[in-house]
Amino acid sequence: MTEASYPATRLRRTRAHGWSRAMHRETVLTTADLIWPLFVTSGKGVEEPVASLPGVSRWSVDGIASRAKEAVELGIPCIALFPNTPSDKRSERGDEALNPDNLMCQAIKAVRDACGNDVGILTDVALDPYTSHGQDGLVDDDGYVLNDDTVAVLVDQAINQAEAGADIIAPSDMMDGRVKAIRMALEMNDFPNAQIMAYAAKYASAFYGPFRDAVGSGGLLKGDKKSYQMDPGNADEALREIALDIAEGADSVMVKPGLAYLDVIWRAKQEFCVPVFAYQVSGEYALIEAGAAAGIADREALLMEKLVAFKRAGCSGVLTYHAPVAARLLNG
Ligand code: PBG
Repeated sequence: MTEASYPATRLRRTRAHGWSRAMHRETVLTTADLIWPLFVTSGKGVEEPVASLPGVSRWSVDGIASRAKEAVELGIPCIALFPNTPSDKRSERGDEALNPDNLMCQAIKAVRDACGNDVGILTDVALDPYTSHGQDGLVDDDGYVLNDDTVAVLVDQAINQAEAGADIIAPSDMMDGRVKAIRMALEMNDFPNAQIMAYAAKYASAFYGPFRDAVGSGGLLKGDKKSYQMDPGNADEALREIALDIAEGADSVMVKPGLAYLDVIWRAKQEFCVPVFAYQVSGEYALIEAGAAAGIADREALLMEKLVAFKRAGCSGVLTYHAPVAARLLNG
């Protein structure tokens, strides 16, 4: 790159007025870049605010259908569903994940009834909202999360969600080989168009705390998830995870958490030229809200600056609890 030297070049020229800044803006966020995560709870007409996620609630199935309609009106193309399974339905092996009438399946059907194909439904595949120990898979006597035994259950969970009508199956469990197993099962069960968005590079992060409150697994979890989720120091390994998930049949890959891992997003996009999504996770959301509440800066400015960063790094879209707020701002 060659630049004429000052004063032939004055980079401030194009920044002088709003019209010019708009014309030269390299990256823009649109409502189509947003995926809205929603928490499902039991009952009817229920809205339960999540204390650690100000502005976010769990909704009963009818409320989820209303939020999905809101997404369509706002131009948000996709919602992501997470259940808060009642404690009497949690078990050692997370069997409730396979119940065709569980909260997740009820919500999928209600959203489809309310919105048809006007909104995409992304569903999380992992056992933590269903297990009595809060781990994402089956554990042995030492508490170690078993890989292959877990994959067998995740396959059934994925098919259960696809049968209820999920559009995008999103395994967030970090077991080895699960994308391949799920892809083969989807083909065999006649779901050739079910997408897989793999949580490919998912880190063992301190930023998931409020999510675990929201799905009710936080208090249950003993130990940590470091034997399956990635070490925050590793980026080469993230690219290997991503390469494997693509080879196994993922249509898109996710990096999670978001902002602390922009380098991984950038490298993945440069290296593989596949759709890359980021999950701006619960702790990131909560920090923005806490910062705004503490008067650090204007909330809207903070959240929009952070969201555009994901696109600049190469993301096709972002899962964010700020989706409806951001969409309203974008729709002006
Ligand atoms: C479950 C799952 C988690 C998140 C999404 N799916 C939590 C975890 O792995 O412990 C976190 C999302 C967030 O923090 O917003 N496997």
